[in-house]
Amino acid sequence: MGFVDLREWLARLEKEGELRRVTAEVDWDRELGAIARRTLEKKGPALLFERIKGYRTGRCTKLVTGVLGDRRLLAMALGFPRDVANPELVQHVMRKNRETIAPRIVPTGPVKEVVVTGAAIDQTQFPVPRWNFREGGRYIHTFSGVVTRDPDTRVMNVGIYRGMIGRKDTTPFLLIKGGQHWGAHFLKYAQRGEPMPVACVIGWDPIMPFLAGSPIPAGVCEWDVMGAYRGEPAELVRCETVDLEVPAAAEIVIEGVISDDPATYETEGPFGEFTGYVSDVPTPRPTMQITAITHRRDPIFQGCLEGTLPGSYSENSVMSSVQRAAIAWNILTAAGIPGVRDVYIHPITNGVNICVQIRKAYQGQAKQIAAALWGSSAAQYRYKHVIVVDDDIDISSYEQIDWAIAHRVNAGAGGLVVFPGIFGSPIDPSTPLHDRDTTRLGTGLWNRVLIDATRNWTFERRAEWDGQPFPPTVRPAPEDEARVRARWDEYGLGDL
Ligand SMILES: Cc1cc2nc3c(=O)[nH]c(=O)nc-3n(C[C@H](O)[C@H](O)[C@H](O)COP(=O)(O)O)c2cc1C
Repeated sequence: MGFVDLREWLARLEKEGELRRVTAEVDWDRELGAIARRTLEKKGPALLFERIKGYRTGRCTKLVTGVLGDRRLLAMALGFPRDVANPELVQHVMRKNRETIAPRIVPTGPVKEVVVTGAAIDQTQFPVPRWNFREGGRYIHTFSGVVTRDPDTRVMNVGIYRGMIGRKDTTPFLLIKGGQHWGAHFLKYAQRGEPMPVACVIGWDPIMPFLAGSPIPAGVCEWDVMGAYRGEPAELVRCETVDLEVPAAAEIVIEGVISDDPATYETEGPFGEFTGYVSDVPTPRPTMQITAITHRRDPIFQGCLEGTLPGSYSENSVMSSVQRAAIAWNILTAAGIPGVRDVYIHPITNGVNICVQIRKAYQGQAKQIAAALWGSSAAQYRYKHVIVVDDDIDISSYEQIDWAIAHRVNAGAGGLVVFPGIFGSPIDPSTPLHDRDTTRLGTGLWNRVLIDATRNWTFERRAEWDGQPFPPTVRPAPEDEARVRARWDEYGLGDL
């Protein structure tokens, strides 16, 4: 599957019955977000809003959301059948995350059909929703690929970072200097005394948010990895006012610079975050000064409703349930940890909780797994709680995990390990605000927990337990089960 632009992707979704056009008038203020929430509860489809209040005419009249609002849509975007099994998808992502095909720079493309600069710049000409009534403003960047460049190596990074409309030409962002890759770029520009050039790409191939929203290793350009996923170079054009490149067939690109001067900061937040809670309190944040907007004729604005609640999984959690498992599995492989049989992220946790199934090779292996995950910068917002189980436990089943925790964990004997005060998420509501002060701390502080729910090998091996350190379960002997199966009808139980 080669690259598709947003329009081709929407056409494909529509053909498959996975896109609804909403032609009734809808208010961008709260109503659109509430519709998106109810649609997530129903597991899709994607929604294309064609009549948005106040945007019947003008620069931009349409908005799409929910293009990856269920795992079946993500499977399609990655070129698989809708019902592909989880391990197949995760293994594909593990492989592709390690491959690259460099992009090709082309002279121009549809994203240059309209170029807006100077006093004409006005973000409110796009139908940007206030997704949730508790949010501090209109969030223009929820699903955008935010592009920056390392000033030393010139390698670009593409990430998803939330950004709210400030004034008509300014956008304060949650820009975390410690952990996020654009944060590392920001620190380098600040040391040089220069503002950081930024380009925000709205609406393109769904592979863009899938990779921009995931921690691909620092120094690896996401455009290159997207090329590997699509089997061809991404076609990029140069920006108008900043030294960056963006997809030639994107819907909208917003260019600008972000300064480290606190005098330029504007207030951002609160935001309905991926945790399912309102993130934090309004806070002065680094702010993008927009220098140009380029877009296709009649552009389609794209955004996503963040926030996972029981029964309604956001696009972030759908993507995270695959990506965060694949990234973790690659980390464990690179660390040389043997016997990893499965890695599973239940979408409701977005990867804040992670389950690892192992064929245990030695005591202390679960601690090694937690240490490897927590030692990776990919653990910035994720892997707070690591649960490790033996290979007789199916980690896609909550019941099986609960059984393992109930009877294999001895909290006082290494079954529960707390790693206090390690870097973590600044948007976790269980962390007090003073430990989430990114200005003071660089990022958030977490107390991470390992639950080692594997059988403990420090116990004495006993002959009564087949020479094992842990007692056997009450499952009947295989020969007894076989005999009963063979005589089942004879017992008069054939209808059960
Ligand atoms: C829909 C979505 C929204 C996100 N919003 C933010 C955000 O507001 N701030 C942030 O720091 N990370 C956010 N993330 C997570 C980052 O995109 C993720 O950590 C990614 O690895 C960042 O790119 P980087 O690793 O190149 O820094 C979001 C991810 C998704 C999928």
